[in-house]
Amino acid sequence: MSDKKLDSSMKSLLAKDESLYQDAQEAELSISKHDDDSNEHEPPQEDELSNVENRQEKIDEIMSKCKFKQEYVDDKVILSVNHLKQYFFFGAGPNRYKLKAVHDVSFQVKEGECFGLVGESGCGKTTTGRSIIRLYNITSGSIYYKGHRIGAGTRWNEKEIKYTKIRLNKKLKELSNGLKEGKITKEEHDKVVAEEKEKANNIIKVQKAKIKQAKYDDSHVDPQLMREIQMIFQDPIDSLDPRMTVETIISEGLQIQGFKNKAENHQRVVEALERVGLIEDYASRYPHEFSGGQRQRIGIARALVMNPKFLICDEPISALDVSIRAQIINLLNDLKDEMGLSLLFIAHDLSVVKYFCDRIAVMYFGEIVELATSDELFKHPLHPYTKSLLSAIPKPNPLTEKNRVRITYNPQECHDYSVEKPKLVEILPGHFILANSSEVEKYQEEIKTLDEQAKFEY
Ligand SMILES: Nc1ncnc2c1ncn2[C@@H]1O[C@H](COP(=O)(O)OP(=O)(O)O)[C@@H](O)[C@H]1O
Ligand SMILES: [Mg+2]
Repeated sequence: MSDKKLDSSMKSLLAKDESLYQDAQEAELSISKHDDDSNEHEPPQEDELSNVENRQEKIDEIMSKCKFKQEYVDDKVILSVNHLKQYFFFGAGPNRYKLKAVHDVSFQVKEGECFGLVGESGCGKTTTGRSIIRLYNITSGSIYYKGHRIGAGTRWNEKEIKYTKIRLNKKLKELSNGLKEGKITKEEHDKVVAEEKEKANNIIKVQKAKIKQAKYDDSHVDPQLMREIQMIFQDPIDSLDPRMTVETIISEGLQIQGFKNKAENHQRVVEALERVGLIEDYASRYPHEFSGGQRQRIGIARALVMNPKFLICDEPISALDVSIRAQIINLLNDLKDEMGLSLLFIAHDLSVVKYFCDRIAVMYFGEIVELATSDELFKHPLHPYTKSLLSAIPKPNPLTEKNRVRITYNPQECHDYSVEKPKLVEILPGHFILANSSEVEKYQEEIKTLDEQAKFEY
C-alpha cells in the first residue's frame, strides 16, 4: 500500500472518540441495529449462590443463570459470533483515540465445519480469534459456544442508555418550547412528557438489566467449556517460550486446568506429540532445536493436548516454507476428521482456504464484506475486495500467469456510501455481501453475467 493510502486508511481507523453529541447522532442511525439480543431479555437473577457444598451443583446452578440459546444447539451451531466489536483505546482526555480493530462482525460456525476468515494483514482476524478465546474483554456484542454465552460486551447497551437520556432531554426541551409558544396546551404537554419519560425509563431499565446479565455471564464462564476451544497461534517462533522444554510447553494448559498427575500428563504429551507426527524424545528438547514446521506441530500439539472440540488456527502456515505448508494443512485435515473438530481457519490469502474451508468470510478493516460457501465465493466473487484478493493468487499456467492483472482495491473509488450506508445483504442463498441497495442491483447483474460466461466456457 502506498504511503498516501495508508495514511487515509489509518485516519479512518483512528477515528477520534468524539463528543457526546456526535455519538448520539450516530446512535440514532444505528439504534436497534446492533442490539443482538433485542426482545429476548430475561431479567438477571440475584447474586451468586453461596454455601453450596457440591461443586458440580454450584456450577450447574451458575450455568443455569447464564444466558443459553437452545436454538443454536438445535441448529448444530457450535460457535456464534454476534455483532462482535473490539476497540482498543489509546491516550487520555482530548487525545483519547479508539482503534476499531473489529467492528460489528457476525458469523456462525456449524459442528464439524471448517470456516475460513480471510483478509489482509491488520484487518482484525487475530483479534477476532483472541476475543473468542477470551484473551480480550470484548467491547460489544456476544459470543456463544454450544449455546452458552461465553463472551459479552456492554458498550452498545451503555451507549443506548446515554443516547436515550440525550434524546429524552431534547424532546422535553422541544415540548417546553412548544408550550411557551402556545403550540400545545398544558394537558397535552404533561401527557406527552409522562409518555416520553415512561418510554425512556423502560429502555433504560431493560438495558441496565442486559448489562447486569452480560457482566454476570462474562464473569461466570465455565472453564471446562472454554477448554474445548483452543488456538494455534500465528507465529510458531514467538508463540513458544524459548526457556521451556517442549513437555512443559505442551503440558502447561493441563497444569492450569488442574491436571497435576505428572505421569498421566507425560502420557498425554506423548500422545499429542505422536498425533502431530513427532516422537517422544522431542519432549525434553527446547523450541530452538526445531525447524519452523516442527515448531508449528508443537503449537498444534499444545492445542490438541486439551482435547479440543473447536480449534482456531491463526495463519498456521503463513510463516512456513511452501514445501512444509501442505504437510501442516494435511495434518490439520486429518485431525479434523479423526477428532471431529470444528475449525476457524484464519488466512491472509484465498488460495489457502479454497480447498480447505467449507465457508469463507472475507474481512476488510474490521468488517466482513462477503461471506459464502467456498464454491460459491469462487463462482460469484462480487465484492471488489474479494476480487482483489482473487487477483493476487498466482496461476500455475505460465501463459495465463503472464496475463494476470492484479486488481487493487480502493474503497473511496469503489463505493459511494454518502447517501445510503451499506449492510450485509443475502444476495443469493447463503451468500452475503456488504452493500447498499444500488450496489445490490449492480451485483445481481454481475451474477447474471458470470453465469452466462460460465455457460459459455462449458
Ligand atoms: N492488543 C492490542 N492493542 C492495540 N491494538 C491492537 C492490539 N491487537 C491488535 N491491535 C490492532 O488491531 C488491528 C487488527 O490487528 P490483528 O487482529 O492482529 O490483525 P490481523 O490478524 O488481521 O493481521 C491492527 O491495527 C492492530 O494494530
Ligand atoms: Mg493476525
